[in-house]
Amino acid sequence: MQGIIIYKGKYGATQQYAAWLSAALNIPAVTGGGETKDQLEDADYIIMGTSVYIGKLQLRDWVKKNKGLLAGKKLFLYLVAGTPATEKEKLKGYITAGIGADISNKCTCFFLPGKLEFRKLSWMDKCLLTIGAKLAKGRGESISVTDYNDVKAERLSELIASVRKLSEVSV
Ligand SMILES: Cc1cc2nc3c(=O)[nH]c(=O)nc-3n(C[C@H](O)[C@H](O)[C@H](O)COP(=O)(O)O)c2cc1C
Repeated sequence: MQGIIIYKGKYGATQQYAAWLSAALNIPAVTGGGETKDQLEDADYIIMGTSVYIGKLQLRDWVKKNKGLLAGKKLFLYLVAGTPATEKEKLKGYITAGIGADISNKCTCFFLPGKLEFRKLSWMDKCLLTIGAKLAKGRGESISVTDYNDVKAERLSELIASVRKLSEVSV
């Protein structure tokens, strides 16, 4: 079975997960938009990786553009976020709002923790995060502006097992 990882992030967390997945599954990892038409068409399954910024999925536009092709594939999606993986409804909400119920219902989804290095953010992202955290506080929620790094290879074990199972079934 042929697979491909298509990902989009901003500061390296989504890319790091893509690189680990690529090594574990021996399939290419390409940033969204950098793939060839043949790579997409030939894939039996696609693993989409995206981070989230102010509720918006980085890979959203790519998914919308390629909806037609995605409809015929086995789809996996991993979402990299600051929101804890235990807050499943909120995380699922990001996906449904971002790519629509038709595609998101077809995806097997995995929620992976991200990382934050405040000093490495763009000026705009520093502002957005600071304002977002203040607004969240007003709603009784919490968004961290303190550095964290929960990106670890072992977070991918479920996703890797799920993909391997698919390959075994279809042999
Ligand atoms: C400006 C900004 C906005 C963010 N907005 C959200 C958000 O709405 N929800 C969330 O769960 N995480 C949010 N995060 C956390 C990121 O998703 C997290 O840092 C992730 O690791 C980024 O991955 P990347 O480096 O691959 O883009 C935000 C981070 C920044 C800097």
